[in-house]
Amino acid sequence: MSRTANAQAVYERLLPEAIAASQAAWCPHSDFPVGAALLTADDQIIRGCNVENVSYGLTNCAERSALFSAIAQGHAAGSFKAMLVYAPKVPLISPCGACRQVMQELMRADCPVYCVGHQASASRDWTIEQLLPGAFRF
Ligand code: THU
Repeated sequence: MSRTANAQAVYERLLPEAIAASQAAWCPHSDFPVGAALLTADDQIIRGCNVENVSYGLTNCAERSALFSAIAQGHAAGSFKAMLVYAPKVPLISPCGACRQVMQELMRADCPVYCVGHQASASRDWTIEQLLPGAFRF
């Protein structure tokens, strides 16, 4: 994976935060923890994890948890610099469709999303536009 020096620095800053976030996951139903770390315009890091429920459809993914938390803390939609998503039980994590829809509304089209599983060498760098091209908007 070739990244600019700045992108690599952001990746290395976000990865331990996303790992820590995954350790806070509430996932008794799937036993599949996920963590997300979101870099704000003022260089804060907002963590998110998946929070499941016995009524399965109520589950919130790590990506949406991080974004909803950031918005609730007053960070503006479209202001985020990057997100890293980490899941230790797959070689490479890929955000679900629901999260992609939410991400594209709250993050700029060129915002990087670093996806990492237990095989760090398999990590993928996406942009929001690449994750959900042609997204619904009005
Ligand atoms: N999950 C996430 O939190 N993010 C993803 O990118 C994929 C899936 C969660 C939802 C559920 O709690 C568990 O992982 C298994 O699907």
